[in-house]
Amino acid sequence: MTDTVADPQTVAEAAALLRAGRLCAFPTETVYGLGADATNADAVLSIYETKGRPRFNPLIVHCADLAMAETLAEFSPLARQVAGLWPGSLTLVLPAKPGNGLADVVMAGLDSVAIRIPDHKLALELIAAVGKPLAAPSANPSGKLSPTTAEQVRRGFGGRVPVLDGGPCRAGVESTIIRVEGDQLVQLRAGAVARKEIERKLSVKVAVAKKDSAVAAPGMLASHYAPNAQMRLNAEPRAGEAYLAFGKAPAFDGVMRNLSPAGDPHEAARNLFSMLHELDAAGVGAIAVAPIPEEGLGEAINDRLARAAAPRE
Ligand code: TXA
Ligand code: MG
Repeated sequence: MTDTVADPQTVAEAAALLRAGRLCAFPTETVYGLGADATNADAVLSIYETKGRPRFNPLIVHCADLAMAETLAEFSPLARQVAGLWPGSLTLVLPAKPGNGLADVVMAGLDSVAIRIPDHKLALELIAAVGKPLAAPSANPSGKLSPTTAEQVRRGFGGRVPVLDGGPCRAGVESTIIRVEGDQLVQLRAGAVARKEIERKLSVKVAVAKKDSAVAAPGMLASHYAPNAQMRLNAEPRAGEAYLAFGKAPAFDGVMRNLSPAGDPHEAARNLFSMLHELDAAGVGAIAVAPIPEEGLGEAINDRLARAAAPRE
């Protein structure tokens, strides 16, 4: 038997765990995060151990408000403009302020820091109650699917990680990561806010980092977000496979989920990880995935699907 831990029932209980240097998973509007006090090196190191993260990828630091964020990083006027979209599913990579108090391992030796203010009531209350920024990667064992419910977190870690339950996540896919480089914005990871939407709201252009460039988010391994089943993309289902459909689906006899019968990319993003979890739980060996149009959130969905289908080490 593995040891299981009791879940915190309130924000105050979760905050007490985090203040004591323990880990606690918590909900955000994107996915559940595996949180630790970002100023406590031992606590942050246990994030890496618990996830089995193969090397020290820098972590996203979650702040309660702009005042907290400004103690950690230098905000140029352009960065401040983008930060106007907070709280939200958008992470900004900015120059770290020297002596910002963050554990070095959070930034993995870089001189930049990734920050976001999540758009989720419980997450904001929790950070405020801890009174410290929280480092939090997605709350799943490394390489596995990101969790969008507390139950998926419990299952992923065999009940060994306490979870503050906030119900299912609204967005269902991780935040969009943008680096501010001088007067340029560069998207390092497609995510829950579509690049076009950022461009429209801010009237600025957002470039896309080249896939294999050193500036891309260092944690973007080719194989990631993987279910146990093998995946075939842009595919029609064959006998013995499960089918992950999008939009109007052909009749199919086997295990099937539809990301969005109406063909709505927001609904599809919200359902993506949950439905992959469900198909995995059904014990299928392979999943055929319907084509997803690349527009809007399709960019983030197709990015996650390509990683889930990539050859695994
Ligand atoms: O929605 C989200 O972003 C979720 C929730 C919990 O907030 N978090 C999340 O964290 O997806 P994680 O650790 O799975 O992904 C963080 C990504 C990694 O690809 C990492 O390499 C990148 O952010 N990153 C962190 N700091 C960076 C930096 N200074 N420069 C470039 N990339 C950075
Ligand atoms: Mg992750």
